[in-house]
Amino acid sequence: MTLACGIDFGTSNSAVGVCDAAGPRLLPIQRGAASVPTALFFSFDDDSTAFGHDALDRYFAREPGRYLRAIKSLLGSELFDQTTRVKLKQYAFGEIIAAFLRFLRTAAGERLGAPPRSVVIGRPAFFVDDDPTADAAAERQLEAAARTAGFERIAFQFEPIAAALDYEQRVNAEEIALVADIGGGTSDFSLVRVSPERARSSDRRGDILGFTGVHIGGTDFDRQLALATVMPALGLRSPLRRRGLDAPSWYFFDLATWHRIGFLYDPKVLTQVRGVLRDSAEPEKIERLLRVLEQGKGHALLAGVEAAKIELSSADLATLRLDGSVADITLDITRAQLETAVAESLQRIRARINEVLRIAGLTPDAVSAVFLTGGATRMPSVRESIAAAVPTARLIAGDAFGSVAAGLALDAAKRFAQR
Ligand SMILES: Nc1ncnc2c1ncn2[C@@H]1O[C@H](COP(=O)(O)OP(=O)(O)OP(=O)(O)O)[C@@H](O)[C@H]1O
Ligand SMILES: [Mg+2]
Repeated sequence: MTLACGIDFGTSNSAVGVCDAAGPRLLPIQRGAASVPTALFFSFDDDSTAFGHDALDRYFAREPGRYLRAIKSLLGSELFDQTTRVKLKQYAFGEIIAAFLRFLRTAAGERLGAPPRSVVIGRPAFFVDDDPTADAAAERQLEAAARTAGFERIAFQFEPIAAALDYEQRVNAEEIALVADIGGGTSDFSLVRVSPERARSSDRRGDILGFTGVHIGGTDFDRQLALATVMPALGLRSPLRRRGLDAPSWYFFDLATWHRIGFLYDPKVLTQVRGVLRDSAEPEKIERLLRVLEQGKGHALLAGVEAAKIELSSADLATLRLDGSVADITLDITRAQLETAVAESLQRIRARINEVLRIAGLTPDAVSAVFLTGGATRMPSVRESIAAAVPTARLIAGDAFGSVAAGLALDAAKRFAQR
């Protein structure tokens, strides 16, 4: 019986893989799907907690409760030690992450006959940029959560290396591949020498030529697009009457940031926003902001922006329609607007590819293939930026939501074999 698994605990989506003699496979976790939204919903109606697709459905069905997304972004941050209030109970974020991991472990156990006891969990190159202490704290926090969730043996593997192990399953000859995993929270890269023979070796340290990453992903693109389009209609840069000032910009920044939205529902913040409304020269805008916060519609607003972003991967124009229950706004958004909003992030992603080449001591023409995984690699402008950094390599689109978990499963089978 397989009791070791790989967990891709993603900012936006999570998946669980296992590996046996037939190779790695993803387990159906919910409604037959292997990839589930990293989402929780605490109901105010019946005190139950829902996970994944169920959490999403209950929030969007307007059930009263507290909805949480992008909890991975809290690891290593100053927000991790805060708690979130659900009715009268305060939840620590460590408990919340543990509850989500327990949900994955239990669902995996239903497929496997018993919950897995050993796990390799994926981690980005950096949970926190430029702060090794915070980064180490993030891994410890995730490990503690996995232990609370019932795992006994816990190891970590870098997400871009896991994705490389998955890519290697499909190569026929030796080559140097750049693996680019652009997800919801981070962009991760590895340069790896892959081959069918090398895949069988247990020590791959010599084949990992370099890896790095940066804390930029699809959730940042959502924020940048929201700030450029919908937030001005809610009062971003809107003047106040008396002091010659604008409405404080941090409300809009937090409202556009998946893991910060919940903090805006604090009664103290609502009181402050009511004060801003009294002082506003454009009260109709601040009223929209207040309505979104009072009704707990921040995630619905940002989900509308995310949906427009995704539509713009295949269309030049997307219409964002927010009904009266959210903010009563209809906006046309062009692909050019999205590209302008994310341009600086794309430059930073490109700089990381140059950095991984430097770490590996390689020139771009040494890379023969680029393996793309992570949902944000579906964005044409993201692909173009990657392709421009390694112009002679062929681009290969992997399973955007399953590669990391499959690679972690391969790794788990090797590490926990016969133990
Ligand atoms: N077709 C698409 N076009 C643009 N973006 C997309 C598309 N599909 C998904 N995304 C974005 O991809 C992101 C999620 O990708 P993914 O599931 O790979 O991330 P993750 O693994 O949860 O995050 P991370 O690895 O950074 O922790 C979201 O920001 C989502 O909006
Ligand atoms: Mg990912």
